Amino acid sequence: MDIKIFEGVKTPFYYYDKELLERTLDAVEACTAGTKMKVHYAIKANSEPEILRIISSRGFGADCVSGNEIKAAIECGFRPENICYAGVGKTDEEILTGIDADIGCFNIESIEEIDILSTLAAKRGKRVTVALRVNPNIDAHTHEYITTGLKENKFGIDLRVIEDAVRKVKESQNLDLGGLHFHIGSQITISEPFKILCERINDLQAKFRFEGTDFRFFNVGGGLGINYDNPDENPIPDFASYFDTILSCLHLEEGQEVHCELGRAIVAQCGSLISKVVLVKKGLEKNFVIIDAGMSDLIRPALYGAHHKIENISAAGKSADKIYDVVGPICESSDVFGKDELLPETKRGDLIALRSAGAYGVAMASRYNMRDLPGHLIK
Ligand code: LLP
Repeated sequence: MDIKIFEGVKTPFYYYDKELLERTLDAVEACTAGTKMKVHYAIKANSEPEILRIISSRGFGADCVSGNEIKAAIECGFRPENICYAGVGKTDEEILTGIDADIGCFNIESIEEIDILSTLAAKRGKRVTVALRVNPNIDAHTHEYITTGLKENKFGIDLRVIEDAVRKVKESQNLDLGGLHFHIGSQITISEPFKILCERINDLQAKFRFEGTDFRFFNVGGGLGINYDNPDENPIPDFASYFDTILSCLHLEEGQEVHCELGRAIVAQCGSLISKVVLVKKGLEKNFVIIDAGMSDLIRPALYGAHHKIENISAAGKSADKIYDVVGPICESSDVFGKDELLPETKRGDLIALRSAGAYGVAMASRYNMRDLPGHLIK
């Protein structure tokens, strides 16, 4: 990282490597061109307008989970027909935002929501395309807070009542059943859960075909994980294996499409949270590097016990032979980015990079302790 470009930028801030983002998008395009796969970017991972514009300019769709995300997607160039909208608790106002914008698909997460959406579409005199989000009861083998496809999770419609949901949608004049939607979790680093998901989809497809229901698409959600330990070794996730698994395991009929909603895999590695060392506090037991970024800027370590690689970029090239706890300034004991980190000798004023922070970093930032939100630099 060339720290000269950071001169004069107020810390903490998120730095996005535009070139890496573009190369990541190139890789996604290369793997999906000419296939039945249509990629939607999950806006929740990072909704910086400049990032949204870069992604929308490639023609990808957008996966939104709020009315504001729908508005941001459209403002930043995503075409409404390429927008899908998921969420277990969409408000009437948010649903109407989607209906009025003529978005491509509503992912319905409960039987109760079918009537609500149908009534609101009728109110606007429109027929809207929907997908039913199925809870496939698959263990994604990831952190429990980001596992979404188990039957105890609040997401999606239980497999055992999906037939009732299909019937109900088909009865509505204002709903057009386009497909089925799934999302089993996030930061999934093995292919097995995706294979099991494809098998479930194949079974459902066979069952519904037998009963005379056809789907135009299956949305497999997001979830492809990244390498947090070695961001430089694998800056671009293994999209080829991921898409290969999905496209080879799914039995698609003529004309059917697969949709996916990747967030983290697209934006995580291009972002780092850049922070300045406020002071190094020498203790009897531990030495603390106290930085000016805290859990309000990047909550993943405090919330999930996640670890982002920590680098002293002012001391690049020097040998990492000192042990520190790297912590933020916030009044919470969980405001810790790393314990017993091996770093070069670190001093007040050094710049620290918390790597792989492009996804769910600024997107989850808050103003806790009345702090300013972090800034950003895209270069
Ligand atoms: N589609 C749906 C319906 C989702 O709920 C999510 C993420 C995605 C797609 C995108 O998943 P991705 O490709 O990014 O894994 N804050 C957590 C992650 C929460 C993910 C929520 N849903 C974290 O920082 O790890």
